[in-house]
Parts: sequence; structure tokens; C-alpha cells
Amino acid sequence: MSKEEIIIITEDFVKHNLKNYDSGHDWWHIERVRRLATLINEKEAHVDPFTLEIAVLLHDTADSKFAGNDIEQGYAMIIEFMERNGMSDIKDQVIEVIRNASFSKKNPSGNLNDPLLLVLQDADKLDAIGAIGVARAFNYGGFRNNPIFIPEEDTDGKSKSTIGHFYDKLLKLKDMMHTKTAKDIAEERHRFLEKFLEQFYKEWETKF
Ligand code: ADP
Ligand code: NI
Repeated sequence: MSKEEIIIITEDFVKHNLKNYDSGHDWWHIERVRRLATLINEKEAHVDPFTLEIAVLLHDTADSKFAGNDIEQGYAMIIEFMERNGMSDIKDQVIEVIRNASFSKKNPSGNLNDPLLLVLQDADKLDAIGAIGVARAFNYGGFRNNPIFIPEEDTDGKSKSTIGHFYDKLLKLKDMMHTKTAKDIAEERHRFLEKFLEQFYKEWETKF
């Protein structure tokens, strides 16, 4: 199988396994992360483009399909898929990277400085900020039936409101970027988050 064919098969596998209701990780998130990761990689990282594309495509599959259940089942499914479709040589690296990629990952292990991991993490985080990040946050909050804002809520990392999630996570992402390219993109997207919040509070208080 050629690399192009493997990519097409992997795209189909991912589309099939991302659950429709999981609005945080739909196919378009994967597409955006792929474009961002490719951009970062071309500008500065230079990891193998094929391995990067496969890692991006697969990075949310286990989480999405097995959310709330046994995520190990998700990894086992991905390993089996990679072995069956000519990716045995990159399987170990890709699995380690996607295990470590998630922001919420509590027990990272292995090579945390693998450039493949750093590029994927940067691209994934960039898609959580800026206008897209705002849209995704309110989409997720709506799906969970969370309030948009709770005045005087403690933003202690466990906010119930979507505005609270900005303080728990989104406003911190800019300083967690690894690559220069992602840092530059994050600056603009972070400023947009601040601008959004400023306008939000202004309207909340009925100021003109
Ligand atoms: P990761 O892919 O890093 O594990 P998550 O799965 O936590 O990220 O989040 C996926 C998307 O859902 C992101 O855009 C994130 O901002 C959004 N999201 C996650 N938790 C919340 C929340 N409590 N309120 C609003 N948006 C959320
Ligand atoms: Ni993702």
C-alpha cells in the first residue's frame, strides 16, 4: 500500500469512529489540526510528514469512541488497525504520542520531548483558542447543558459554566505552546479570547 492509500484508509477509519455527538472532536477538528500541524512542521519541526499526518488523524479516536468507558479498548483498536494496514513500523511511536497528547492527560510517560508530540500538542491546543476555540467551547457547553456564565463562580479548574472554562483552560494554553510558530499564532488567538471576554462582560452589565 502506498502512503497516500494508507492516509485515505486512515481518514475513513477516523470518520467512522468519531462519534457524531462528540462535538468537541468532530472530523473538522481533525482537519484543522492537520493543517495547523503541517504548517508548524514545514516551518520549523521537520518530523516525518507521513507519521505526523497519521498521528493527527488518530489522536482523538480512542477518546471519542470510548469516552467514559475503557479507553484502553480504544488504543487496542488503533494498534490492530495500524498493524493490519501497513503501519507497524510507526505504530509504537504514534501510540505513545497520542497517549501523551491530551491536555487532560494525567500520567504522561515515555519521550515527552518527541517533536512529533510537541507539534501535535501545539496544533491541538491552537484549535481550542481564537474564534474557533470560542465556538467549540460554547458548542460543548450547550451539549452538556452548562450555563454560559455564572457570576461570582470560582474558577478553580472545575467550573460549571463555559465562561469559567476560559479561565480553567483556554486562557492558559498560549503559555503552553512549544514551537515558535504556534506561539505566534497563539498570541493573536489569545488576544481574541480576551477581546471576547471584555465584550461579553460589557454586554452582561448592559454597558454601551
Ligand atoms: P483535549 O482534546 O485536549 O482532551 P478536551 O477533550 O478537554 O480537549 O476538549 C475538547 C473541546 O471541548 C475543546 O475545544 C475544549 O475547550 C472544549 N471543552 C472541554 N471541556 C469544556 C467545558 N467544561 N466547557 C466548555 N468547553 C469545554
Ligand atoms: Ni484534538
